[in-house]
Amino acid sequence: MFKLLTSAAAILLTVAGLASAQTPPGFSPEVTARLEIIFGTKSVMTPGQSMTKAETAKQPTVGISDSPTSLSGTYLWMMIDQDVPANFQNPSAGGRRTNLHAMISGFKMSGANTTITMSDGTPMAVYTLTSTATGPVAYVGPVPPAETPAHPHRYVNLLYETPKDFAVTKAQVGQTLGFNLTQFVAANGLGLPVRGNWFNVTA
Ligand SMILES: *[C@@H]1O[C@H](CO)[C@@H](O)[C@H](O)[C@H]1NC(C)=O
Ligand SMILES: *[C@@H]1O[C@H](CO)[C@@H](O)[C@H](O)[C@H]1NC(C)=O
Repeated sequence: MFKLLTSAAAILLTVAGLASAQTPPGFSPEVTARLEIIFGTKSVMTPGQSMTKAETAKQPTVGISDSPTSLSGTYLWMMIDQDVPANFQNPSAGGRRTNLHAMISGFKMSGANTTITMSDGTPMAVYTLTSTATGPVAYVGPVPPAETPAHPHRYVNLLYETPKDFAVTKAQVGQTLGFNLTQFVAANGLGLPVRGNWFNVTA
């Protein structure tokens, strides 16, 4: 009986984990706490939602919808494409590599909120995070190359807590193409991401 209960609980936990993953299947580290991403009047309502190049051309507003006080520190926001073809001439021949589209430090809760509309029409307050920084890597909108067959690119957004005076230069970040998150996190003493979300853009 005890065994049965334990495995039932494990299954429930697994299902809940899958349902609330805010990072793509197989992405490590998995993040379950949601970062709200708002591009103008369109927000990423469900993780992995399809967006267009035009919609995502400008840096989004980021925030949280669960509590205005749950993030009291200073944060680093990153957006990383997971699907850059390693072989541009023949994308299906090579593997895929990453490209860092944004890394911006100094985010804090702004104390303000903005309202987004849920798919059922319900309004929801998003407590925004703002930063006066534009780097170390300024936002570059998605421009996935056309491929046959079409290949959606996954843009993973992650929020890391940092020390208040955290500073990293563009040179320390290095090449944006092939950006190695594991290495960067270890080299800069960051922990696990506190928030995440992702969307797709197809050429
Ligand atoms: C959003 O901000 C406004 C203006 O500061 C405030 O009056 C309102 O209570 C806030 N809404 C929520 C849900 O916190
Ligand atoms: C990223 O860096 C880690 C740690 O150095 C290494 O194990 C891993 O293979 C690297 N990933 C890629 C895709 O190069």
